[in-house]
Amino acid sequence: MKAAVYERYGPADVVEIRDVARPAIKSDQVLVEVLATTVTTADWRVRASAFPGGMWLMGRLIMGLFRPRHKVLGGEFAGRIVETGADVTRFKTGDEVFGFSASFGAHAAAIAIPQIGAIAKKPENLNFEEAAAVPFGALTALAFLRDFGKVEPGSQVLVAAASGGVGVYGVQIAKHLGAEVAAVCSKANHDLVKSLGADHSIDYRTEDFAAGGERYDLIFDTAGTTNFDHARKALKPNGVFMPLEFGIADAFRSMVAAIFGNKKLLLRISGDSKEELETIAGLVERGEVRPVIDGIHAFDDIRQAYQRVEGRHKTGSVVLRVAEA
Ligand SMILES: NC(=O)c1ccc[n+]([C@@H]2O[C@H](COP(=O)([O-])OP(=O)(O)OC[C@H]3O[C@@H](n4cnc5c(N)ncnc54)[C@H](OP(=O)(O)O)[C@@H]3O)[C@@H](O)[C@H]2O)c1
Repeated sequence: MKAAVYERYGPADVVEIRDVARPAIKSDQVLVEVLATTVTTADWRVRASAFPGGMWLMGRLIMGLFRPRHKVLGGEFAGRIVETGADVTRFKTGDEVFGFSASFGAHAAAIAIPQIGAIAKKPENLNFEEAAAVPFGALTALAFLRDFGKVEPGSQVLVAAASGGVGVYGVQIAKHLGAEVAAVCSKANHDLVKSLGADHSIDYRTEDFAAGGERYDLIFDTAGTTNFDHARKALKPNGVFMPLEFGIADAFRSMVAAIFGNKKLLLRISGDSKEELETIAGLVERGEVRPVIDGIHAFDDIRQAYQRVEGRHKTGSVVLRVAEA
């Protein structure tokens, strides 16, 4: 089968489309024919070994010190089940599914996934390309806003980089949880974020969100656009700053703030589960959450897709069409 393989860390051209063996499934796994996948910021960071904030060594210990441990990247996928293991009860051959693989492998014509993993029936109102664009951003936003940030009706939430891969879901999920949402993005994306439910929009190129009089319960920075010292000026007492990108220095700042301050710096890593993905699928089917697609690239053009992602100016998700549905 076709797969995008890389054997060493580096720029986009370390990735090559090759023929590799189809994965063999275990008894509790399903084999999904991948029709669409995406290139996420996580794929780029791992491929390029571009781990933020002094986390290089930790990143390399996890992903492979000298050479990549996972030769095929790709977390998000949408496609059809083509084989099921002997113990699989949740799915059958032919089911249309979408999901997220924390151990990568989705940049390929097929991926083996445990039935208890972050895989669910594809929302009927999305096509495969749209469905592949959902899990990474939506699972992250759900975990950070609902579980870590405890957003509740009436919370005032600011989403920074609201037009990015996670940001577009940050706006929609904060609204779903009942928050009043301010979205920081460039002017060109203000109509987009308002269509996603943002109550206010702030153009980061001409305005400083911390300079005005607004104060927030929660600031969710989805793309490393600000820092705690800056963001805290715009937090209410007991307000929380949650950056998705953080480094070693932030861990110290977070401890100091927890002991001495009345504003918190919360550093978390999002997980992924079938329960959370099913919650997301429900939100999508009810029209409360929708994907935003920057562009759809042919699988063979994966290097260009990577270049678009690492520019950090994509709007929503960069999708790869692996096969015709
Ligand atoms: N901690 C965790 O568990 C966790 C989980 C998931 C992801 N992550 C990390 O979180 C990050 C998620 O990235 P992403 O894919 O969502 O980002 P992204 O899509 O690369 O962000 C790009 C967007 O940011 C906007 N932007 C750029 N500079 C800005 C600024 N100064 N202010 C406001 N908006 C700005 C751009 O808008 P313009 O084009 O208009 O400038 C663009 O729409 C990645 O680094 C990923 O590794 C962490």
